[in-house]
Amino acid sequence: MEKKNLDWSNMGFSYIVTDKRYVANYKDGKWGEGVMTSDSNVVINECAGILQYCQECFEGLKAYTTVDGSIVTFRPDMNAERMMDSAAWLEMPQFPKERFLEAIDLVVSENAAWVPPYGSGATLYIRPYMFASGPVIGVKPADEYQFRMFCTPVGPYFKGGARPLTICVSDFDRAAPHGSGHIKAGLNYAMSLHANIIAHSNGFDENMFLDPATRTYVEETGGANFLFVTKDGEIVTPKSNSILPSITRRSLVYVAEHYLGLKVTQRPVKFAELPDFVECGLCGTAAVISPVGKVVAHDQEICFASGMEEMGPITKKLYDTLTGIQMGTIEAPEGWIRKIL
Ligand code: PLP
Ligand code: COI
Repeated sequence: MEKKNLDWSNMGFSYIVTDKRYVANYKDGKWGEGVMTSDSNVVINECAGILQYCQECFEGLKAYTTVDGSIVTFRPDMNAERMMDSAAWLEMPQFPKERFLEAIDLVVSENAAWVPPYGSGATLYIRPYMFASGPVIGVKPADEYQFRMFCTPVGPYFKGGARPLTICVSDFDRAAPHGSGHIKAGLNYAMSLHANIIAHSNGFDENMFLDPATRTYVEETGGANFLFVTKDGEIVTPKSNSILPSITRRSLVYVAEHYLGLKVTQRPVKFAELPDFVECGLCGTAAVISPVGKVVAHDQEICFASGMEEMGPITKKLYDTLTGIQMGTIEAPEGWIRKIL
């Protein structure tokens, strides 16, 4: 198989249409057989639940070319499970885990020419999503749904790769207390767009959202969880019911404890504690671990000791170990890597 002729080392995080995608429909109370299609367009009724009441959830994961030339995915079972949780919360049918994994295998293998080569810094981003395709005009869940999965090759989420980011504390909330913050629903991201544009127009890379009830605790950004490092080299990561349970963050906690012998604490983190930390990172599938150098809250500036030039030493160790596991240069814990090709 010949790879596509792309400038793999200089890719951004944007959509490039690939050859094949997976589609399965839910009708009459059951999922139909899934098919692969070349058509990248979706045609739905004007009154579809997704268009009227935003009934949709999605996932994001990556396929990697490993050092020995295999193509693998990282913990896709966790994405399957999280999508089932999202679907349940949104009163949508769950797409079975085994079928989710089979769909990944099909999408990646039928687009193998688009999987970036080992060492290029790029990866294949896989986007499973599900939406209400059936018509609804009264506010209620639809009767029909579509599950789809496409992929697109991507580079780093933040321009400049591992350059430390400057983020601002948002004046807006991403999710309500007891709301949908813990699920991966498109509506949460629609909610973050206004804050996102304001942050970008003020020269910031991202927003730090605070807890919506008291605005005193750190939650997450629009697309990643936080990890902090204390002066004593311990990891602290915010615990909250209104943040997305990041698979990257949960994997990094394991890596920190079992590979690097670091102490990890998951607990509510007060914004007022930030000056006590020496390193800060954003973790997620797209973000991997992106270092944060500075957090700005109106006239207050918190500069982490790791500075604005490079990743802090603990963040770097976490980054190297996680990406080593994903790219096959470091042995993975049992069950973390699914080999596709
Ligand atoms: N938080 C939000 C709001 C996200 O959109 C994402 C991305 O998926 C994450 C955190 C990171 O989660 P994961 O590591 O599972 O990609
Ligand atoms: C991911 O990391 O997979 C996400 O879905 C985050 C999104 C902001 C791209």
